Amino acid sequence: MLESTQKVLAEIEQFSVENAQDLEQFRIKFLGTKNILKDLFAQMKDIPAESRKEFGLQVNHLKQKAQEKFDSFNFGGSTNSDFSNLDLTRPGYALPLGSRHPISLVTEEIISIFKRIGFNVSEGPEIEDDWHNFTALNLPMEHPARDMQDTFFIEQNPDWLLRTHTSSVQVRVMENNKPPIRTITPGRVYRNEAVSARAHCFFHQIEGLYIDKNVNFADLKQTLDYFAKEMFGEKSKIRMRPSYFPFTEPSAEVDVSCSLCNGKGCNVCKHTNWLEILGCGMVDPNVLRNCGIDPNEYSGFAFGMGVERIAQLKYEVKDLRLYSENDVRFLEQFK
Ligand code: PHE
Repeated sequence: MLESTQKVLAEIEQFSVENAQDLEQFRIKFLGTKNILKDLFAQMKDIPAESRKEFGLQVNHLKQKAQEKFDSFNFGGSTNSDFSNLDLTRPGYALPLGSRHPISLVTEEIISIFKRIGFNVSEGPEIEDDWHNFTALNLPMEHPARDMQDTFFIEQNPDWLLRTHTSSVQVRVMENNKPPIRTITPGRVYRNEAVSARAHCFFHQIEGLYIDKNVNFADLKQTLDYFAKEMFGEKSKIRMRPSYFPFTEPSAEVDVSCSLCNGKGCNVCKHTNWLEILGCGMVDPNVLRNCGIDPNEYSGFAFGMGVERIAQLKYEVKDLRLYSENDVRFLEQFK
């Protein structure tokens, strides 16, 4: 062995370790970031070429020796594997939990309200054909009311479009099921509108459909009255105003009493005490016929509401854009 490595080997062997402090000194000297073995490596360039390989092997051997000696001692508290100072009763770090999106929360609440009176849930495609979105709903090709909803058409095929309402799903349900039908259709819908605080090019709807023998307007009114009370509280009232939809006759728009000011008048209800929440009516006999249901045997009602609108009333969110911008400062508030 070369003289210099011989000397260090002797030092490693003779270093007396009696306690944790000694061991730490040993570690610093032979294994720390500035250990003396590194000094030996630095001398490499002065070693004659023919002994260099031998020298390198010897230094590596020293390193191994030092590590072995270090590992052979274990003084309480001095090594990494000693856990006696750990406080195992200390509470852990809580993992941050995400939150449900307000649109999901409101959708689920509305679904559960209608499930309690026997409605089931139906879903359908967001890319629709003309038949399900328009024609079957009593909106033939040149019908002027097609302009009521600005539609995104799919360029490659003029028969395809992004559904403008989930009434298209109701058509699919009627085509594929025999009455009695009692279903609600939640989903995303699209309209070609400039995005602003009060309008968006996509939003969410829940529409409802009830078809059976002898279903009448009183059934519709009671169902919506039940919904308003469940959603906005016992004291809520509804009122109906005559309206027009191609797929229902008669048609109505429904307002709910303002639950934010309870009749005192506020900005949201514009001091009218009423808030418009949905459209509805008795399913037009033409629609039933288009979907293979005999209007002489069956009648039904339908209604449709915007989820963002309901969420706005529940959470007082005034800007529609917040729902789709994914700003965590907004989303976090719904924990
Ligand atoms: N489909 C209508 C809309 O999107 C809402 C509606 C549904 C109206 C059912 C009446 C009956 O505006």
